[in-house]
Parts: sequence; C-alpha cells; structure tokens
Amino acid sequence: MINTAGDGGIITLQRHIIEEQRKYPTATGEFSWVLSGITLATKIIESQVRCAGLLGILGTTGTVNVQGEKVQKLDQIANETILQCLGYRRNIGIMVSEEDDEPHIIKEPDELANYIVLFDPLDGSSNIDVNVSIGTIFSILQRREDVAAKDVMSHILQPGVKQVAAGYVVYGSSTVMAYTTGHGVHMFTLDPTIGAFVLSRPDIKMPEKGQTYSVNEAYKAQFPKGVQDYLRWAHTEEAGGYTLRYIGSLVADFHRTLLRGGVFLYPPTRKAPGGKLRLLYEANPMAFLAEQAGGAASDGKQRILEKEPKALHERTPLIIGSKAEVDKVLSFWTK
Ligand code: AHG
Ligand code: MN
Ligand code: MN
Repeated sequence: MINTAGDGGIITLQRHIIEEQRKYPTATGEFSWVLSGITLATKIIESQVRCAGLLGILGTTGTVNVQGEKVQKLDQIANETILQCLGYRRNIGIMVSEEDDEPHIIKEPDELANYIVLFDPLDGSSNIDVNVSIGTIFSILQRREDVAAKDVMSHILQPGVKQVAAGYVVYGSSTVMAYTTGHGVHMFTLDPTIGAFVLSRPDIKMPEKGQTYSVNEAYKAQFPKGVQDYLRWAHTEEAGGYTLRYIGSLVADFHRTLLRGGVFLYPPTRKAPGGKLRLLYEANPMAFLAEQAGGAASDGKQRILEKEPKALHERTPLIIGSKAEVDKVLSFWTK
C-alpha cells in the first residue's frame, strides 16, 4: 500500500521537497534543485551497483585515496557521478568528497552559489564486491555570510548544527533514501518500475531503546577501557539480552539502528586513535538524522553536531542511536 497525499496522489521525493518548502515562506525553491541533483546521481549509482558484476566494474582501481584506502572502481564511478550531476547547478558553490584531497570549487560562494555539498559517494567499500548493502551519504551547508567568499575553508568547516539538510541512500534489498531538513526524517523507496523515490515512511522516530549493539568487536582489546566495560556489561544477564548486528557499512548499520533502535559505535582503536569515521561526510549527516528522529550522537565527550571541524578529512569516534542506548554507552565510557 503506497502512502498517498490527501488528494490521492503518490508522494514522490520531488513532490515532498516542494511541498515542505511551501511551508516556509522564505524558501526560494533553490534547495529542491540541489536535492533533485542528488536523487538523480543516486539513481545512476544504483543502476551501476545493480549491474556491477555484469559491467566489469567490481574490484579496485589500483589507486589509494586521500584516506589511505584502496579505491574501488565503484567508489570512483559514484564520485564522478555526483560531481557531474551537481557540478553544473548554478546554486552549488563547493563540493567536498571523501574520495578527493581537495574541495571542488565550482564557483566562489555568493548569493547564487550558496550551497556546499559534502558527500561520501559510496560508503561500505569492503562490501561492494560481496553483494552486501552499501550507500551514499550527503550533508548540505550554506555559505557563511560573515566571512569573505574566497575563504573557502571557513565555508566548509562549519559544525554539524549548521547543516541545512542531510541524508543517505542505501543500495540494499531495495533502494531507500532518508533525508532531513531539520523538520523530521522522511524515508522514500525507489520504485524501479517508475524510476522515482516514493514516500514509504514519513516522520520516522527512532525507538527510544533497542537491545542491539553494533560494533566491530574484533577490535575490543584496542578500545578504551570504558567501551570494553560496556561490552562486558551488554553480555550479562542483568543487561537483559543484547544482540549484535554489524554489517560494516555505516549507512546500513545506521539504517537498521534508525528503524529498530539500538546503538552503533566506532570507538578509537590503537590503529585509529581518533576514530575511523569521517566527521564531515559520515558522522555529521548521520548525527543530524539521528537527532531529528529523536536519537543522539556523541564522540564520547561531546555532541557530534557541536564539534568544530578543523580539517576536511577529520575523523571522529562515533556513538549513535537510540537516546537511552547512547547514554548507556556514555555512562561507561566517561566513567
Ligand atoms: P568507506 O567505505 O566510505 O571508506 O567507509 C567504511 C566505513 C564505514 O562504512 C564502516 O562503518 C566502517 O568503515 C567499517 O570499518 P571496519 O571494517 O574497521 O569495521
Ligand atoms: Mn564511508
Ligand atoms: Mn566511501
């Protein structure tokens, strides 16, 4: 049964964005143009992902990205697709990708080129070749009015609370997009027969609790003592029967946590003492979605959304999910 509007019409993502914008008299419609670029790009990526095994685009490119990680062919295709679909839109000034060392300055930000799009083109690289869910994550900022147009880094390095929108697409058993503009989280499923994202779950609320923890437990011995204590507690009978789910694609682990509740954590390890996940392309957008759905996100010390980014590819520890479960982890972590 498809969700329909009062007039009986199907609510596509496009329609939803336009109708949401009408609620805010100052909205110019510019923003729906940015989001439509993202939906176009993700539909192209999804079609490549679905046929990857047939098109000879599995495996690595043989290069290593700015993160020091092997670039998969699909990482590169996804990155180029997003740059191409958004690059010609007049109202986007800067694009910043997890895959590239430097930001793409399309135009110096000004009143017209007001938006900055930050993205992880393909999240879950290790799962690409084995047919496990992967995704695209995006975060949207507006240029700052208090700094000069050419001071590009100041426009980009804004804390997560300044995001005007964020979302992700999971290429899973179906293709789903979730987005927020600060007025709840809405979820759409791609109907492959008509090529449109159709509203499937409006105004999602994350369960307040959920007895699932999601962490790469193989690194347990490397985690801070508080995290090890939390895991030890979660295994006890007194904790009430936690279960573990870990896919290894943040986008898919977060998607499950959003719908079912629980907590995802990527703590500091010996190998990655500042955490592995990237603040601008992964933690901030997911934290915005989590909070909008009634959940929480912390780095162990502070709210993710209040972190002042210092560098483009900055990493952060991440604890994200149902409010009560995040608080539980923190009660051990900060002891
Ligand atoms: P990416 O593929 O964009 O580099 O991100 C991979 C990330 C994230 O999706 C996931 O949560 C994490 O790496 C998994 O890391 P481990 O393999 O260390 O568990
Ligand atoms: Mn990623
Ligand atoms: Mn990636």
